[in-house]
Amino acid sequence: MKTLKNFEIINKKVLFRADLNVPVFNEVITDTSRIVAIKSSINNLISSKNKIFILAHFGRPKGEVLEKYSLKFILSSLKEILEIKKIYFLQNLQKDQINKKINEMEYGEVCLIENIRFQKSEEKIDLNFAKNLSSLFDVYVNDAFSASHRNHTSITAFAKYIPAVAGNHLIQEIEKIDLFLKNSKKPNMAIIGGSKISTKIKLLNNLVKQFNCIVIGGAMANTFLLSNNIDVGKSLVEKDLVEEAKNIQKKANQYNCTIVLPIDVVCGKSIEDKNPFELSINKITTDFMILDLGKKTTEIINQEIKKSRMVLWNGPVGAFEYKPYDKATSAIAIYIKENAKKLNISTLAGGGDTISSIKNANAEDGFDYISNAGGAFLEWLEGNQSPGIIAIKENNFI
Ligand code: 3PG
Repeated sequence: MKTLKNFEIINKKVLFRADLNVPVFNEVITDTSRIVAIKSSINNLISSKNKIFILAHFGRPKGEVLEKYSLKFILSSLKEILEIKKIYFLQNLQKDQINKKINEMEYGEVCLIENIRFQKSEEKIDLNFAKNLSSLFDVYVNDAFSASHRNHTSITAFAKYIPAVAGNHLIQEIEKIDLFLKNSKKPNMAIIGGSKISTKIKLLNNLVKQFNCIVIGGAMANTFLLSNNIDVGKSLVEKDLVEEAKNIQKKANQYNCTIVLPIDVVCGKSIEDKNPFELSINKITTDFMILDLGKKTTEIINQEIKKSRMVLWNGPVGAFEYKPYDKATSAIAIYIKENAKKLNISTLAGGGDTISSIKNANAEDGFDYISNAGGAFLEWLEGNQSPGIIAIKENNFI
């Protein structure tokens, strides 16, 4: 696989795929990890005097030009974090517009291209579009591990026409995650949270074979509780996945994997309720909503962490964005921060919400590695090779 370390790119026109799909709340970027992530590659390409065109998506506009998904808002953060004085902006991908910009720019300068998902050609793999665009550039660099699980034009198709190179952050993500998976130490545990089992079925079915203990938290746990005939009131559940939750538990049993489900929880009358109350799991009534794990469950989880040699974490265990329902997630993150290094426990976390919740607890230090990928992280853990990485590996242009 070509990388920025083994493939020289000097004085070239570079099409650079980044993932700038950053979390935004009230028009403020709440986590800049994905911008920070491309800094090393962009700096390398600037110092070797290339004209760099950053290509990225934001949200899911599905081929429509929708102002709320414009990438213009990110320009000032890009400049600040990448420490570049000037960044050009390219509104559309007409050939004459791109050529004009290429001619306007000096070598060593950067241009951000408007949201690639404004193009109908992005999500349906349009080889003509890719061929035309590629003809204007010398090399394609993919530094967007977190978007490389998507078989989209900007992820897989340019590699069919020009040299395709892996960026520094993409390589770092693969190496760190693989290192964790290869150096398997037992006993190991996984903490899997978030709201939906539907996005994590395959992962859970794989993990039960490899992990000694799996903690299920977040709204996902409600579906598991329901599958064990526990009344979860008006909590979020996926009723159609109750059978799946039963099957996962059966399978875990066969593989001697302990599934930890909540024994006590924090409830509210709604997600806005600022007066939470803690209940044992068999005391939930119709108008209660489970929004976080209780203290006893949190303590059980922390004791499991203490016994483990490896901890994998994906997904917050409560509705952490709605304080005070961030308490259990923060308590676990802090426990890891205070104990992992001391007890020699390897730790890996990944996923957008997971990063935010770990940062919310100021516990980044406790982790050997935190991936900034969400879906791509899960798919990699499931053993799937991302189409974007296959495309770079198969690229033979020099
Ligand atoms: C992500 O945020 O996980 C990536 O940017 C991919 O975004 P998507 O799920 O909209 O394809």
